[in-house]
Amino acid sequence: MSELLDPMHRRVLEQLGVAPGVRTLEVGCGNGSVSAWLAGKVAPAGRAVAVDLDLSLAAADVPGLQLRQADILAGPVHPTDFDIVTGRAVLHHLPDPGAAVRNMIASARPGGAILLIEPDFLPATVAEPAEVREFWDGWLAWSRDEHIDYFIGRRLAPMLSGLGLAEIAATAETAWYNGGSAWAEYWRLTVAELRPRLTDSGKLTGRVIDAFLRRCADPAWWTQAVAFTVVHGRTPDR
Ligand SMILES: C[S@@+](CC[C@H](N)C(=O)[O-])C[C@H]1O[C@@H](n2cnc3c(N)ncnc32)[C@H](O)[C@@H]1O
Repeated sequence: MSELLDPMHRRVLEQLGVAPGVRTLEVGCGNGSVSAWLAGKVAPAGRAVAVDLDLSLAAADVPGLQLRQADILAGPVHPTDFDIVTGRAVLHHLPDPGAAVRNMIASARPGGAILLIEPDFLPATVAEPAEVREFWDGWLAWSRDEHIDYFIGRRLAPMLSGLGLAEIAATAETAWYNGGSAWAEYWRLTVAELRPRLTDSGKLTGRVIDAFLRRCADPAWWTQAVAFTVVHGRTPDR
């Protein structure tokens, strides 16, 4: 996921003013690849903090990077003067994404930037051919039972607007990919890992999963699945 999404994430962070001296916070950093890059960009006078519930995947020895174990649902991250606060692929898993976004906003300085990147599975709902659509229909039914919001992308801009942010801008980036590509491999690995849970849920059968995996190996099959929704805004003056 880092290889697939970091280039876009870095591009938007640069547009928002990442430079030496800037103070950045990443929420739900996972393996920390974005924050490791941020630490290099803001050095030496800046600060790059990365928080996650589980830091076991993050490299601990990156110069200038502060890793902290924290739950963004529990409160803001201190000190609450970050110039840029970002989170990618975190909110759709949370029981209360609004609380997380409020805590991200409260972690930023007045006029600081908030950058959210989350999925919206709109393209999957019209995927072709029918057997692929059948897979995504089952996948999305399973995710609803798991309380994962794969359509949160469309809710981000209204959420930031409702929380009083200014200069809100939103885009979505959707990869077109074919079987055998890096995205197809991402889905092959993800589905292989989740296969027992998917079939046990009754939402997907082995037949439907196998048909999807055959497509993922077919270079002649081109598709799109996820619109990664990129939304940013500026916090109000307090
Ligand atoms: C799907 S991963 C995304 C990782 C990374 N941002 C990326 O896009 O590659 C979601 C991450 O959010 C973290 N996470 C989930 N709930 C969290 C919470 N309440 N507070 C902080 N991190 C959380 C998980 O531990 C996981 O590392």
